[in-house]
Amino acid sequence: MSLKPNQRLPLMALGMFSLLMALFGGVQRLGWDLPTLTVVLPANHGPLMVGAFLGTVIGLERAVALGVLWGYLGPLTTGLGGLLLIVGVAPSLAQLLIVIGSLMLSLLFVAFLRRQFAWFTVIMLVGAVSWLVGNLLWLMGSHIFVVVWWWIGFLLLTIAGERMELGRMLFISKLRQGQMIAAVILSMVGVAVTLLDVDAGVRILGAGMVAIAVWLGFNDVARRTVRQSGLTRFIAVNLLAGYVWLACCGLLLVMFGGDFSGLRYDAVLHSFFLGFIFSMIFGHAPVIFPAVLGRGMLYRPAFYIHVVLLHLFLAVRVVGDLTVELLQRSIGGLINAVTLLIFVLNTVLAIRAYQAQQTD
Ligand code: HEM
Repeated sequence: MSLKPNQRLPLMALGMFSLLMALFGGVQRLGWDLPTLTVVLPANHGPLMVGAFLGTVIGLERAVALGVLWGYLGPLTTGLGGLLLIVGVAPSLAQLLIVIGSLMLSLLFVAFLRRQFAWFTVIMLVGAVSWLVGNLLWLMGSHIFVVVWWWIGFLLLTIAGERMELGRMLFISKLRQGQMIAAVILSMVGVAVTLLDVDAGVRILGAGMVAIAVWLGFNDVARRTVRQSGLTRFIAVNLLAGYVWLACCGLLLVMFGGDFSGLRYDAVLHSFFLGFIFSMIFGHAPVIFPAVLGRGMLYRPAFYIHVVLLHLFLAVRVVGDLTVELLQRSIGGLINAVTLLIFVLNTVLAIRAYQAQQTD
């Protein structure tokens, strides 16, 4: 038994609400004078983005794929945890709910593995466990700076596993699969080492990121499909641009290690979260939203507006970070937030356009 598309809508709405509130808190953290919605929003920006938004959307997508009712418990708990993080009530309960969500996602991948063993599922399972470990550390009182590397491990391995899953159709050789597994192991060793020595840990993680970016750049089907047209090309452009940002983030970590003086922390985190992860979201959205919500989406060239804005102003922000130009960073960051709103708007319009086309 599973949920029908309409019944999944509230869960998606919970995740999207967390995204909007996280954006608001992020812009406040840049120093822009926005009205106070709740006092905790700026501090909870990171957990809202990773746990309550991405955790809910990824959990939901995986629950739909598994097709069992208990699978939806993960996105439900992370979504509710997000609500508590937004209003700033019962922070420990919010953390506990997000811990449970990550545990449920890990169990979901175990269920996939029991159905059919595949290395890409193992990679995604390790990613979910990385999120779980990070969340447990966070629940026990660790600072976000300590746990964020575990959260990054979660998203990095989720994407690496997903892209490898797609590569299965192209019959990727055992040697190439082994290369990816080695890059994943390197990244996770780096994440674990951050607990003992941040400098060494993030440098190893950075090397793993570069290796994964290079692997994806060479082996992903996107290299071929970028020469096609329409939606196929759009997806490929996003994937390839995302791999470039992943490599940039990895290089920054290798170069600077644990020296986060100035605004380097912002540069590293957002080249990964915005440059890499949001490129993946932009690229996958026209496929994932219809699958999860049971509503079609009409691809429109206007989608390139949010893509171009993302890369342009993320570059402005990251250069501002690295040169400690506060105003440049703030403007870039503000337009990043507006860009994500344009993405949401473009998505809603594309779903409506599809519906209008069906009724014609
Ligand atoms: C789109 C607009 C965004 C804006 C304006 C924004 C703004 C910020 C700012 C100003 C910081 C503090 C950086 C510092 O201390 O130097 C921050 C931290 C952070 N951001 Fe963002 N961000 C955005 C997007 C994202 C996204 C998409 C994610 C994840 C998917 C994310 C995750 C994080 C995390 C995990 C932290 C660390 C939080 C902490 O240490 O407390 N951000 N963000």
